[in-house]
Amino acid sequence: MATSPPSGSAEHILLVGMMGAGKSSVGSLLAQRLGRPFLDVDAWIEDEEGLSIATIFETRGEAAFRDLEARVLESFLANTVASVLSVGGGAVVDPRNRAALSSHGQVVWLRATDATLASRVGSGAGRPLLAGKDPATEVARLALVRSPLYTELADVIVDVDDLTPHDVVDRVVAALS
Ligand code: S3P
Repeated sequence: MATSPPSGSAEHILLVGMMGAGKSSVGSLLAQRLGRPFLDVDAWIEDEEGLSIATIFETRGEAAFRDLEARVLESFLANTVASVLSVGGGAVVDPRNRAALSSHGQVVWLRATDATLASRVGSGAGRPLLAGKDPATEVARLALVRSPLYTELADVIVDVDDLTPHDVVDRVVAALS
């Protein structure tokens, strides 16, 4: 649950949830709807590094990616303009990221069933944690491990399964107002 943001920093909307939950598409629409900046941690890393997330995992390893992720998240959270942030699915595993998220705004968990996640990740292409594994089994395993963390953090939970991104935005806006 959220605590008050440190003085001087803004109260952001922080989208968390598993890969395939729709954080980036919902985040971009939500930001447009609210007239706020949209900050996407993974997209920023890819732009800054000039590499896909999959290539960063392959060439530098997951630990290096997690360091980058934590640094970018920290800098986004320090933004003094209230923004909408899309936070990569695994960022919540690091307790420092969880503490930072819970003190910088409203955390919205875009929750999806295992069946929805499996259909959305498909073959797992471009998703390094699924490489070489059965994507449906692995995404369900990760979701099981992370669900308690999302539960602990979430101020709002939206079940996204049968919803379009526009519908999800409606639910988020209603829940936050
Ligand atoms: C990851 C999710 C990805 C990306 C990386 C690791 C994870 O982001 O950060 O591949 O650990 O679940 P999305 O949740 O935006 O797909």
